[in-house]
Amino acid sequence: MSKSEFGIIGLGVMGRSLAKNLIGKGVSLSVYNRPEDDLVSNFLSVSANDDVHGFEDLQDFVSSISQPRKILLMVTAGPVVDLVLDDLMALLNADDIIIDGGNSFYKDTARRDQHLSKNGIHFIGMGISGGEQGALLGPSLMPGGNKDAYHKTEDVLKQMAANDENGTPCVSYLGPDGCGHFIKMIHNGIEYAEMQLLAEAYGLLSYFKNHKEISEIFSQWNKGMLQSYLLGITSEIVIKKEGNDYLIDKVLDQAGSKGTGSWSVQEALQMGIPSGMMQSAVEARYISLLKEQRIALSRHISATQKEFALDIDILKQAYKTARLINHQQGFAIIAAASEKYNWNINLSEVARIWTEGCIIKSRLMKELIITLTGVDDLLEAEDFVTEILSGEESLHTVIKQGMGQRIALPSFSAAWNYLVAMSTENSVANMIQAQRDAFGAHTYKRTDKPFDQNFTTNWTQNG
Ligand code: 6PG
Repeated sequence: MSKSEFGIIGLGVMGRSLAKNLIGKGVSLSVYNRPEDDLVSNFLSVSANDDVHGFEDLQDFVSSISQPRKILLMVTAGPVVDLVLDDLMALLNADDIIIDGGNSFYKDTARRDQHLSKNGIHFIGMGISGGEQGALLGPSLMPGGNKDAYHKTEDVLKQMAANDENGTPCVSYLGPDGCGHFIKMIHNGIEYAEMQLLAEAYGLLSYFKNHKEISEIFSQWNKGMLQSYLLGITSEIVIKKEGNDYLIDKVLDQAGSKGTGSWSVQEALQMGIPSGMMQSAVEARYISLLKEQRIALSRHISATQKEFALDIDILKQAYKTARLINHQQGFAIIAAASEKYNWNINLSEVARIWTEGCIIKSRLMKELIITLTGVDDLLEAEDFVTEILSGEESLHTVIKQGMGQRIALPSFSAAWNYLVAMSTENSVANMIQAQRDAFGAHTYKRTDKPFDQNFTTNWTQNG
């Protein structure tokens, strides 16, 4: 048996789809899964091909791949990755390359990279986006880690990835350590807020439009500047029928999450970078899970239907503005991490590899390739700033309508709050700083004195 060019460990939904993707590109492949799940025989029964070999024995799998080996791990992020790496370490040779394609936490990736490199094994932490379809037809790939190792795997990864509109694969070496997984984490943070904004728009529209009308509105939006993968699927979800009923009306209003959203927020908070959009979306999911409490409290509310009038064009403008803010915050978090860790990330290139294959692919993302050229923050781009500022009134109108009807709009509100706060010269933080000084002598600076001087005052009678 001739040796395979590439190996994949883990034949869950994503692993199996990526394997099929590579088989379709003519890459000779070895696949491994633990015997318990029967996934290998299932996979081979539908993907029989002279160039694909399945294994339930890890040693046989490793021996079947040509050296230096290139092995993609598609196992559940978390401790399982360490267990598999431990098993693999004993079987691999120096210069072999492992790629972790799961949604691993980027600090775990950096730790694993250091550990493996002591044994001469190269590690690449690679975010993969696109869900099952993307994995099958071409995902967006976000690799980080050892650069030479990336170049050795580049050929296969380029075949695996989606192509952008110019035919260039949506994969690039993004930086060292856990940089690739960090970028995928923020991709998901942006994804969370994009989803929440659509859910809120759907919630507002459902007060005065039926399913078909909502779907029609979304699909109209999707034909223009607002085009995005998530908008497209949302317009289809709204009108999906089960028998005579709309399926969406039967879906329990509790949204789960696997971690990348809350990690994104935590990382942003630690770096001191605003992340209100993704934060509001993560929290909305958490509140959704508190169903029993929501039911109990709702019993105290007597809902009175008020007159509802919302101009669709105003909602469209508000949605557009909130999305711009979401993307500005997301890229600003990546830029901050790039500076903190010296990753030297090319933001425009990140936008480019997000234009196809991934969940947040959109027309906006294509525009951001240009806007992000030469700026570290979208707020440095004049046209971008003009555009978000012109959307303030629409956000205001939409939120006011939501408040009138008791419709929670956390992400639209986060966008408005951020926009207004960021464009207000004098904030109320003078009071915060005075309070800090009053109870903890934290000192303050004065507007009428040079800023390199600090002052403290006994603000209260009792000191
Ligand atoms: C993607 C998705 C994918 C998945 C995540 C987020 O880019 O293909 O982001 O990675 O949907 O697991 O999911 P949660 O909503 O479960 O956190």
